[in-house]
Amino acid sequence: MKVDVFMSPNEMASGDTQGRVVAVIDVLRASTCIAVALDNGAKSVIPEESADDVVTRSKQFERSQVCLAGERRMLMIPGFDLGNSPLEFTSEAVSGRTVLISTTNGTRALLGVQGARDVVIASYVNMSAAAAMLRTAARSDTDIAIVCAGTEGHFSLEDAACAGRYVRSITTRASSVVLNDAAQACALIDRKYGDNIAKIFKDSSHGRALAEAGFADDLVACGEVDSHPVVPIYQEQQITRLGPDRER
Ligand code: MLT
Repeated sequence: MKVDVFMSPNEMASGDTQGRVVAVIDVLRASTCIAVALDNGAKSVIPEESADDVVTRSKQFERSQVCLAGERRMLMIPGFDLGNSPLEFTSEAVSGRTVLISTTNGTRALLGVQGARDVVIASYVNMSAAAAMLRTAARSDTDIAIVCAGTEGHFSLEDAACAGRYVRSITTRASSVVLNDAAQACALIDRKYGDNIAKIFKDSSHGRALAEAGFADDLVACGEVDSHPVVPIYQEQQITRLGPDRER
C-alpha cells in the first residue's frame, strides 16, 4: 500500500490520484474553513474556480439559501458574504445553507483531483476524524494520496507539516506501507514541530502574511486540533459531511 504526498497540485500527474483515497490539505485556510462550515451546519460546500463562477452558480439558489465565500490576496471578495476566515463560518452564517467558495490555492487543489475513489478535506481541526477514514482505506490496502494546496504552486510549510501528521497517523501500526520521498519529508517536519503548531505558522510565509494582514486569530483557530471533528467528502462537485446517512 502506498502513501504519496504531493507538495503542491503542480506536482501531480493525471494518474496520481486515480482510484485512490485522496486527502486535500490547505491548512491556512480553505480546508479549515470547509471543516468549520460543515461542523457549523452548512448543508454543503461547493468549490468554484473563480469569483465569477461563484456568482453564476449562486443564481441556481434562492439568495437566502446560499453564502458566497472566498478570498483573493487573503481578503474577502467584494460583494461576497464571507471571506476565508474560519471565524466567519459561524452557525448563524452558514447553518442550513450551501456555501459557494473560491480561494486562491485551496479550491484549485481540490478541483485538480481526478479519478479518486474518495476525496476528503483534511486539516488540523478535523485531524482525528479524517485520519480515521484514511486508516480505514489503508487497512483495506487502498493507496492514499495527500495533496497539499501549497501557495501559488509552491511548497508551503504548514500544509507539509499537517500532511506529515496524517502520514504518521496512517502508518502507525500499518505494515508494508511505501511512502514517497515527500511523505517521508513531511513526517520529519511534523516530528520536528510536534504539538507546536503555532510555531509552524510563525515560521511559514503564509502564516506570517496572515498575521501581518490582521488575521492572527485565524492562526489560532486553524491550529486547534480536533476542534471540528467532521469528515468532509467531495463528491459530485460538492462537499458534504460524512455521517450516519453517508457512510464509507
Ligand atoms: C487559499 O486557498 O489560497 C488560502 O486559503 C488563502 C487564504 O489564507 O485566504
